[in-house]
Amino acid sequence: MSSTPFHAWRVHRNAGRIEPRYELLSLHDLGPGEVLIRAEYSSLNYKDALALSGRGKILRHFPLIAGIDVAGRIESSTDPRFKPGDHVLVTGCGLGEETDGGFSAFVRIAGEYVIPLPNGLDTRSAMQIGTAGFTAALACYRMETNGQQPTAGPIAVTGASGGAGSLAVAYFSRRGYRVVAFSSKPSAHDWLRGLGAREVIAPGDSDMGARPLESAHYAGAVDTVGGELLPRLLAVTDWWGNIAAIGNAGGDTFTASVYPFILRGVSLLGINSMATPRPLRIKTWENLARTLDRDLLDRIAGREIALADIMDSIEPMLAGRAQPGRTVVRIGKP
Ligand SMILES: NC(=O)c1ccc[n+]([C@@H]2O[C@H](COP(=O)([O-])OP(=O)(O)OC[C@H]3O[C@@H](n4cnc5c(N)ncnc54)[C@H](OP(=O)(O)O)[C@@H]3O)[C@@H](O)[C@H]2O)c1
Repeated sequence: MSSTPFHAWRVHRNAGRIEPRYELLSLHDLGPGEVLIRAEYSSLNYKDALALSGRGKILRHFPLIAGIDVAGRIESSTDPRFKPGDHVLVTGCGLGEETDGGFSAFVRIAGEYVIPLPNGLDTRSAMQIGTAGFTAALACYRMETNGQQPTAGPIAVTGASGGAGSLAVAYFSRRGYRVVAFSSKPSAHDWLRGLGAREVIAPGDSDMGARPLESAHYAGAVDTVGGELLPRLLAVTDWWGNIAAIGNAGGDTFTASVYPFILRGVSLLGINSMATPRPLRIKTWENLARTLDRDLLDRIAGREIALADIMDSIEPMLAGRAQPGRTVVRIGKP
């Protein structure tokens, strides 16, 4: 087992101020857990940007290593399900929120949260997907469990140029859905068509009206933006449609009429990727590995940065100015 010091982004709270520090740590500094992972890749999520900036209350105690995603190899394990050298991933499950996270060369965590890498993925492609893709696939699972089918009609995806949005565009279109992508970035529109969107709309140009119920345009939606967009999606969703509420990039409160629920039977499904039961977590990763190919993942998340450089990406992400797609974080490249 390595006794060499290693780097991690550990967040401190100092007189009420959040201070992320790129620190040299030893294994003794990490929290408890049966499994020690030698990290190869992580990825950058909106939640990580909130945690590292202090803009959102993501970290439950201090100091704590940030990073809600990690993939790497087992260094050591007292959990019999894993042996040294196994390739694994962790997304959510409190990583980088309640326990020391993935922006670190080593991650120690409970075996319950560790997922064997499914066939078809390596540690880099797993992190190209990360929490964003896992959440998109979970949204699809929840919607389909509630009756959603490609034949019912188009699915709207909001915040489509972001991580969760772009993976939802790709995942739903690969599963046979006609996807209408909503993106405020005109420069991302061709790229989104390339990922599978049949139509791309700037939110300001959409004809979703202002009344509690409008003509139905969509059979369902995946909403990563929240705020004022969510009630508009409710108003234009067809009979028995499902809206998966994933995110709050555009606001965390909304006011909506009950009519879409009681007159059209629309369902609003809450998606929480963090607390997904292990069997569903494993099944969802297998679905992702089967559905998304390498070429597609390189188009969504071809951008790679070193662990030391992650702070440069935080502000653009929070301001909605990040480059389209996702950023993979290189830690201990295999
Ligand atoms: N529920 C869960 O388990 C779960 C899991 C993952 C993510 N999330 C949430 O989903 C949302 C997206 O996460 P992400 O990691 O995909 O983030 P991201 O890569 O930064 O994408 C966010 C996208 O939202 C759009 N957007 C619209 N208004 C915005 C605003 N005022 N500020 C910033 N962006 C705005 C932008 O897309 P366009 O320019 O294309 O419109 C932006 O690219 C976040 O709220 C995140 O917390 C939730």
